Amino acid sequence: GELPKRPKGSDCKSAGSAFGGSNPSLATMNEYLREIAIKLAREAGELVFARREGQIEVAGTKSSDVDVVTKVDKESEQLLFSRLEELRPDDGFLGEEGREKNSKSGLTWVVDPIDGTVNYLYNLPHYSVSIAVVSGDPRPESWQVEAGVVYNPSTDEMFHAARSSGAFLNDRRLEIAVPPPLHLALLATGFAYSSVMREEQFRILSQLIGQLRDIRRMGTASLDLAAVAAGRVDLYFERTLSPWDHAAGELLVTEAGGSISGIGGLPVGREGILAGHPDLVAEFVEKLSNIGGDRSLAEIPGWEFDSKDVK
Ligand code: IPD
Ligand code: CA
Repeated sequence: GELPKRPKGSDCKSAGSAFGGSNPSLATMNEYLREIAIKLAREAGELVFARREGQIEVAGTKSSDVDVVTKVDKESEQLLFSRLEELRPDDGFLGEEGREKNSKSGLTWVVDPIDGTVNYLYNLPHYSVSIAVVSGDPRPESWQVEAGVVYNPSTDEMFHAARSSGAFLNDRRLEIAVPPPLHLALLATGFAYSSVMREEQFRILSQLIGQLRDIRRMGTASLDLAAVAAGRVDLYFERTLSPWDHAAGELLVTEAGGSISGIGGLPVGREGILAGHPDLVAEFVEKLSNIGGDRSLAEIPGWEFDSKDVK
């Protein structure tokens, strides 16, 4: 389909600056950005899905031997980068596979060209293209997510949200689940690529699993956040994520009525992210703290922050 028309009266340069006086509302601008994200996620998703028919080649490894990148991750990022160059030349870009461009407009696209790369490699039909557009400094501690989409091409599920306009799965408006008591909550989580960190994550989970309904490790952070937004799980918690893993999913959760929080008073981001109903999140933060699951990453013995892991 065609791209949506730009909202009238706006040069669409920045969600922050383009809306004085007779300019369109913030919601209109964000909806316009969301339409771009939807269109591009579908394009990249179709490419990624079609390439899965063939042999998937590992192009290299990143932070550790199990942190792989395929040729298709790179191809998908290239497609998104060049389409955004045409459509939004003044916006910045931050992508998992290394593409980076500073913003002139105040907006930056934060992109995971394939989230759930290991699922993709094994042909488990649970991976996504995740695209967010953020205003301000493109760091999780300070950004404001204006629009975000998470697309699973295997199921053709398009999760999308524009700030102040709600979150949707295809045409259906999303709302997070009514919170159950913590011991009946289903928790989604994920593991880092670093073995030291995984062992620590496992240790923390071993102390939680008896006090929850159950735990899911589905392999795609952006889809875990989408699942919280859709009421498919009650809580999501992970540490050591990168910005592109959670930028779009974060907005899905908050627009569906959930909350996003850091742990142990630390900012949301690499240190940790927690998503779910606000009451449940508050309860879980406390539980984590009681078992020492919220000490800062720097305090974890043997864990060395690997800068290769972050661009
Ligand atoms: C990973 C997935 C996984 C999460 C990891 C991420 P990638 O992203 O989202 O679910 O547990 O922390 O790094 O490498 O597949 O794009
Ligand atoms: Ca990712």
